[in-house]
Amino acid sequence: MLELGCGNGNNLLPFAEFGWDVTGLDISGEALADARHNFDGIGSFIECDLAADFPVPQDEAFDAIILPNIIYYLPRQSFLRVLRECRRRMRPDGCFF
Ligand SMILES: C[S@@+](CC[C@H](N)C(=O)[O-])C[C@H]1O[C@@H](n2cnc3c(N)ncnc32)[C@H](O)[C@@H]1O
Repeated sequence: MLELGCGNGNNLLPFAEFGWDVTGLDISGEALADARHNFDGIGSFIECDLAADFPVPQDEAFDAIILPNIIYYLPRQSFLRVLRECRRRMRPDGCFF
């Protein structure tokens, strides 16, 4: 599962506890430090500004991509680019929320 704007990882944690591989992107180094602490070495947490960057390799494919409570932080053009980046990384039967 990939979460955009994952904050401290609270949305990803239940999935990680069920054994999913999780990746979180966020602009806040402090929130990501909390996430890394909470996940105790599990998961991948990457600092980035989604308005300008999407640092996930294009050949990585996700079963689920979520972006709860983040889209209003992104300018429209950046948001549209983020949607395209997500589509490239979704498994065909993946879930987008
Ligand atoms: C309201 S919180 C939501 C956190 C989490 N998704 C949730 O639902 O609990 C918004 C998150 O988006 C992050 N954020 C805001 N602007 C961002 C940007 N341009 N790029 C990446 N993350 C951003 C914030 O640092 C924050 O962690």
